[in-house]
Amino acid sequence: MNYIVVTGGTSKIGEELIYKLSKSSNVIFTYNKSKKKAEQIKKKFKKISTNKIFSFKLNLESQNEIQKFYEFLTKKKIKIKSFVHNAFINFSRKSFLKIKKNNVENYIMANCFGSFLLTQLITKLIIKSTIEDKSLIFISSQSAEYGGFELTAYSASKGFINSLSNSLSKELGEYKIRTNVLSLGKIESNQLMKNFNWDKKKLISDIPLGYVGKPKDVSEIVNNLIFNSPYLSGANIKLSGGR
Ligand SMILES: NC(=O)c1ccc[n+]([C@@H]2O[C@H](COP(=O)([O-])OP(=O)(O)OC[C@H]3O[C@@H](n4cnc5c(N)ncnc54)[C@H](OP(=O)(O)O)[C@@H]3O)[C@@H](O)[C@H]2O)c1
Repeated sequence: MNYIVVTGGTSKIGEELIYKLSKSSNVIFTYNKSKKKAEQIKKKFKKISTNKIFSFKLNLESQNEIQKFYEFLTKKKIKIKSFVHNAFINFSRKSFLKIKKNNVENYIMANCFGSFLLTQLITKLIIKSTIEDKSLIFISSQSAEYGGFELTAYSASKGFINSLSNSLSKELGEYKIRTNVLSLGKIESNQLMKNFNWDKKKLISDIPLGYVGKPKDVSEIVNNLIFNSPYLSGANIKLSGGR
């Protein structure tokens, strides 16, 4: 059976992606610091899915780890159907004038440079897979397009991802690989709640549908992008409750 590669499987959104996608496919997910969480996720899903689940430690800032992941996938001769790039460095909000040089470097090294290299290597493997409908999906943020208050480096690095996906949709059509972006508004996560000081009223004040999105809302769309959208490529879909 084919595999779907999901980065950042240890985030709430990542876990829900694994849950949804493992129903119809084998899944390999990456984690960075949360090894224990990764083990728990595997244990939990092995109980409910007969499909295979692997995890791999991958820090997007490390070219060495990206290369090792590529070698692992190559050695296992894994046929990849889709790549869902969800992992991202996101520190707490900081004003533009105060953000530290090394933090900016982290954002660029992981979210831009690391994402680029990883996507390049995984694309080489996807090209080799003899599968009908192949795709790359980048989890991005509304802040890339509209800006984010005290989120300058984060938003700019998401802008990089959006442009990367657009350009890839021009180059990879030749290999029948579709590439799309899913731009998230506010989706339930610890980081988001922390950014809003756990003030729920403030959090939903600018969401027309009146509630914060659930990780399940994300996984449903990703599943559709992978399995039910054969002509969709070069799109940037806003998932924001109308915000
Ligand atoms: N939640 C929202 O409202 C929202 C809004 C817009 C966009 N997004 C996007 O949705 C995705 C998931 O968001 P989230 O809020 O669920 O994120 P999160 O809880 O902050 O999780 C981030 C994920 O990325 C991994 N990661 C962090 N630094 C990494 C690095 N240097 N190398 C490799 N992996 C790394 C983490 O792994 P470890 O846990 O193992 O360290 C974790 O799995 C992200 O792309 C985020 O930008 C979320």
